[in-house]
Amino acid sequence: MYLSIPASVNYLTGQIDAENVVIKETKLSDLEGVFADETLRAKSVQDQIIYQVEMLPAQQAEGELNFGVSHIEPGSIGDEFHMTRGHIHQRQEQAEFYFGSQGEGLLLMQTEQGEVSIEKVFPGSVHHIPGFVAHRLINTGNTRLSALAVWPAIAGHNYDFLDEIGFKVRIFKSRTGYRIVHTDNIK
Ligand SMILES: [Fe+2]
Repeated sequence: MYLSIPASVNYLTGQIDAENVVIKETKLSDLEGVFADETLRAKSVQDQIIYQVEMLPAQQAEGELNFGVSHIEPGSIGDEFHMTRGHIHQRQEQAEFYFGSQGEGLLLMQTEQGEVSIEKVFPGSVHHIPGFVAHRLINTGNTRLSALAVWPAIAGHNYDFLDEIGFKVRIFKSRTGYRIVHTDNIK
């Protein structure tokens, strides 16, 4: 019999405690063309971290699972809230679970046909992202938004989706919190 202490996660902050945690930062300079106002994005401080993903070392084998946490820093580019680039899985049929940890935000999901659905993300929220659905996290609050994620190792990430179709809605600040705007209505 062998007893060991596994990796752990602080559910209140999404912080992973593991020796071999892998951290990937995404700065504003990495997000060309992602926000509605590209001119403003290009003029803003480029090395600010917009989001960070912590994960346990990536698994490769079919049937395996990955575990990670996305942390999206609060803020906006103009009135558009900080968000992840968003992706659809390379193996599009592969699903994923997200779990809200801290902060408040939205999970934007969009099918291949362009049908959009949006879920509120909050501490304790559980999100099933079916296959064939692109997904993006948006921080609509004043504090860090953190969400845990579990996804199949073979799922992969396809970011070209953005160039081809893109998300049909964007989330902007409003006096009451946020407003959801269809991209057809953005000049
Ligand atoms: Fe995903």
